[in-house]
Order: sequence, then C-alpha cells, then structure tokens
Amino acid sequence: MTSKQVVYMNQGQGKTSYARNSGIQNAEQKRLKPMIEAAIADLSGSTSTSALLPTKMVVADLGCSSGPNAVALVSIAIDAIHIHCLQFLQPPPEVCVLLNDLPDNDFNTVVKSLVTLHQSNNEPIVATGIVPGSFYERLFTSGSLHLVCSSNSLHWLSKAPEDLTRNQIPAYDIDEHTRLERHPMVIEAYAQQFRKDFRSFLKFRAKELIPGGRMVVSLVGDFLSKEATCAIELPKKTPSETI
Ligand SMILES: C[S@@+](CC[C@H](N)C(=O)[O-])C[C@H]1O[C@@H](n2cnc3c(N)ncnc32)[C@H](O)[C@@H]1O
Repeated sequence: MTSKQVVYMNQGQGKTSYARNSGIQNAEQKRLKPMIEAAIADLSGSTSTSALLPTKMVVADLGCSSGPNAVALVSIAIDAIHIHCLQFLQPPPEVCVLLNDLPDNDFNTVVKSLVTLHQSNNEPIVATGIVPGSFYERLFTSGSLHLVCSSNSLHWLSKAPEDLTRNQIPAYDIDEHTRLERHPMVIEAYAQQFRKDFRSFLKFRAKELIPGGRMVVSLVGDFLSKEATCAIELPKKTPSETI
C-alpha cells in the first residue's frame, strides 16, 4: 500500500508553523504519560519475579511531525525508563529513539531536537534516528521495537476511499441536500478505509515489536455508536496483548 502525501503540517518555526500551533495535540500527548509509564513497567516484567528492563531498548514515535511535540512522547518514555531504573536500582539501559513521519515532513527541525535529546543523555547513550515512510508499510526490522508510541496521527488514512474517488464523491459536498443524502455512504466508506489501514498498521507493528512489546497510541475519533470501545484485540500470535 502506498501513502501518497498531498498535505503535511506547516514547516519551520514561523507564526503559522505546526511547531507553534500544536498545543492541543501536546495536551493529548501529556494525557498519554501514565500509559507510557505503565507500558515501561510492563516491559520490565515487573509482574513476574524480575523488575529489570532490558539493557538495550528501542522506542519509536510514528507520525512525529515537527516542533516540540516530535520528541514529547519519546522524552516521556526515556524519563519513565530512568525513573523505573532508579526505583529498582538498575543501571539505565542504552536507548535508541526512532522518529517516523512521511518523507515531506519537516525533518530539519526534528533533527535539531534529536541532537538536543542525544546531548542531554550521554551516559548511558540515547542514540537517535529518523525513519521516513508510511506507517501503513513496514518501517523497522522484525522483532526490534520495545515500545511504539503515536499521537494524533492515525486518523490520517493512506488514501481517500476508492469507492468515493472512483465516483468523484467528495468527503464534504457543498450542496447540502446531496451531502445529507450521501452522508451514511461517505461515513461508511471512510470507516471501511480506516479499518483496512488500521489492520495494516497492527499487522506491520506486530512483526516489528519484540515479543511482549508495547504500543501506546492515541488518535482523534468520534463515537458513532454506543458499542464503540477503547479495547482492541490484536490478531492472534502478535507479540503484545494490549495496546
Ligand atoms: C497532527 S500531526 C501529529 C504530530 C504529533 N504526533 C503530535 O501529536 O503533535 C500528524 C502527523 O502524522 C503524519 N502522518 C500522516 N500519515 C502518515 C503515515 N501514513 N505515515 C507516517 N506519518 C504519517 C503527518 O505527516 C503529520 O506529521
């Protein structure tokens, strides 16, 4: 599946940049802190006899964008790892932080944030890297990731639903009558595209996570029915049981 990028977040540090206009998304990232801390605790195997984390860990943020939010989730994860190690008197592991977004993302500013993150954590090392590409495709080597995070990104679909584009039906028709008439069909087409994309996302991450790896993801959505739930069952034989 290819993800052709036609839009991206405003680049740079100017007045209209994403870097200076992403406070709402940052509030959502802060809401994920306890979940990231719980994921780190789970990775340490603290439910069994040992509370030790692995000596090397890989943490990735998918759809990182640019500006301060790009490193927010991985910074929360690094802090959580260090606090956990202090608590259990373990030397902190070496951590590799990988940030992903589509190729047209403003990676220039992201790289500068990664340099700062690397320099402020020199012992033990926090190695950093950029992984450009679509998270609806394979991005990382098999069984290599301990923790995958993603905030405010997974509602971006890989493409508009083909049933609609084939018939030149827009997501929002300016003619109110036509819009209301097609509303259920348009909603269903987008829901189906989301299901297809999200299934691919889970399938590829299941390959890339270590056995017992963890994912913390948050995305914008709408509760269309009372049955909508936050618990998602991953396909059988995936490394992680919960997200
Ligand atoms: C609203 S920004 C969220 C950025 C950041 N995670 C935050 O919480 O502020 C959504 C980001 O997802 C990226 N994105 C969308 N589709 C993607 C895909 N298929 N693969 C990788 N990144 C994608 C966009 O380029 C954009 O930078």
